[in-house]
Amino acid sequence: MSGKAVQNWIHQVFTKRQPCGEPGDAGKKVYLAGWAFRYRDQGGLIFVDLRDRSGIVQVVFDRSSMGDSFEQATHIRSEAVLAIEGKIRKRAPEAVNAKIPTGTIEVVVEKFEVLNVSRPLPFQLDEFTEAGEEHRLKYRYLDMRREEMRDTLITRSKLNQCIRQYLEKDGFIEVETPILIKSTPEGARDFLVPARLSPGRFYALPQSPQLFKQILMVGGLEKYFQIVKCFRDEDLRADRQPEFTQLDMEYSFFDEDMIVESLEGMWAHVLKKVFGVKVKTPFPSITYHDSMEKYGNDRPDLRFGMELVDIADIAMKSSFQVFQKAVEAGGRVKALCVPGGGVLSRKDIDDLTTWVGQDFGAKGLAWMKHEADGLKSAVSKFFTPELLSEISKRLKTKEGDIVFFAGDRAHIVHNTLGNVRLRLAKQLNLIPEDEWNFVWVRDFPLFDRDVDTGALNSVHHPFTAPNPEDIPILKDPARFQKEGDKILSRAYDLVLNGVEIGGGSIRIHDKETQAAVFTALGIGEEEARMKFGFLLEALEFGAPPHGGVAFGIDRVLMLLLKKSSIRDVIAFPKTQKGTDLMSDCPSEVAVEQLRELKIKSLAEAKEQGAAAR
Ligand code: AMO
Ligand code: AMP
Repeated sequence: MSGKAVQNWIHQVFTKRQPCGEPGDAGKKVYLAGWAFRYRDQGGLIFVDLRDRSGIVQVVFDRSSMGDSFEQATHIRSEAVLAIEGKIRKRAPEAVNAKIPTGTIEVVVEKFEVLNVSRPLPFQLDEFTEAGEEHRLKYRYLDMRREEMRDTLITRSKLNQCIRQYLEKDGFIEVETPILIKSTPEGARDFLVPARLSPGRFYALPQSPQLFKQILMVGGLEKYFQIVKCFRDEDLRADRQPEFTQLDMEYSFFDEDMIVESLEGMWAHVLKKVFGVKVKTPFPSITYHDSMEKYGNDRPDLRFGMELVDIADIAMKSSFQVFQKAVEAGGRVKALCVPGGGVLSRKDIDDLTTWVGQDFGAKGLAWMKHEADGLKSAVSKFFTPELLSEISKRLKTKEGDIVFFAGDRAHIVHNTLGNVRLRLAKQLNLIPEDEWNFVWVRDFPLFDRDVDTGALNSVHHPFTAPNPEDIPILKDPARFQKEGDKILSRAYDLVLNGVEIGGGSIRIHDKETQAAVFTALGIGEEEARMKFGFLLEALEFGAPPHGGVAFGIDRVLMLLLKKSSIRDVIAFPKTQKGTDLMSDCPSEVAVEQLRELKIKSLAEAKEQGAAAR
């Protein structure tokens, strides 16, 4: 064929192209385009599994029917890009491949073109090859050709579309908020962007659109949502990325019960549509206080029991001084029964003890095993038989169980036992795999006290409304000093299987309460005006009562798709160190770029300093 004829033929293939995953029935003429996934050369016959986004179909190059063009097919290698015209035929029964949906047919090639070739691959794209994550991230475009990553991205797209459709129907409007914004403290560290046109000044990337969505409510939009990138310069973990995606929402004229109900409707719909998961509404809720007491954290995994139990009264009757001292110092003594934990070896227990010491500051981790004749361990000698049986009764221990104890300041006790609970439940397979356990955490405190400095900080953010009954404490400095951490807020978090997937609150919509909160946080009038002046001013122009929420879309996907890392649900994620291995970023920039921004490198500044001296 001439160049023009080839171009015309390719045009025809593109316009009439059938998906490889569903090419049609035997006898049909088809046009296909895709990648040569696997190939087998059997002399006069070459079989290629042709793959596009929709799936795979076997195509057959047959020397006897193709003539001269067969020679070209012998050069096809993995991931070559092919355009094909051919005919579908039924496979012989012994050649049927039950593993793929198109396994009963194949396409006999009549005409084809190799549109491109590929270098040898750094890793195989089949499901049998476990490629290292570094490779997968560096060659993300190859990783995406694999079924798993492709399916994830398709599901992610479906999730976004489903949310958009649902919220549109529910009266929400999607508004885009700016990415270059004023740096306002919101919990994490800001990423900063130098402003060339205002030398010495900076934009920040939004940690969330919090202030803008509140201002949209002042603007009268009533119901807002946005699927939006947020940026936080924090230390990364398996469920954290420096840039991540929120489903961000705000409502006017809604209180917390209405918001909770509205969100349950949305998640029930979306989970069923996108993941085929049925969840029961209303979701249960637990207070922050109960969650901390029973599970040691504010994102309880309720798929299993193992509650923390206070045994301070029993400890005080024992002769174990460590625990008595903890109680006398205002701390707590709690215990946790791990069903079947009797199988843990001394080494397991020693490892746990080292871990809770290093990570949570626990001074030790006392334990007792429930053996044939009751609770036994090195510390049981400090407890009379009556006290031991009281412990056994209170924790409902059975033979084969182990009980762990922590006595210390409350946050250390909760952190220690809360984490031991999670780690051992996983290790001993006590967590049901196929359960989707949603729970709202409500009645958060408005502030928490820094355990070292005693200073109060916002638990959520400083725009969260206090519980109306607690406002007198907020406005009375003397009471605030003593009882500041008792003030409850109108915040709520949604937790799924022990992961916080979202959080929000009713906001403060009057200037006086907002000013009182800033004062309580030690933010003076001048500082408040400088940092959030635009919000405070907006609140003076008839701000409606409003509240909202934001969900971590990446986290929702990670959980529902049962991925162990948030990176597996993001097309182009950053590594644990915040780098992008594909584009090699962050990278150095040219001195001229810095000069334009009126920024000196540290080396340059030092040099000039030295010259001046
Ligand atoms: P918050 O800070 O709780 O609230 O964030 C909401 C949700 O976003 C997800 N998330 C993250 N996901 C991945 N990587 C991160 N680094 C990360 N940080 C947070 C979590 C979290 O529950 N403006 C408020 C919401 C509001 O009050 O309306 C906010 O951003 O799933
Ligand atoms: P010791 O008296 O230091 O040898 O500790 C006896 C046992 O109590 C060991 O198993 C320690 O791990 C444990 N232990 C020590 N301090 C604490 C504490 N604050 N909370 C719980 N267990 C502790």
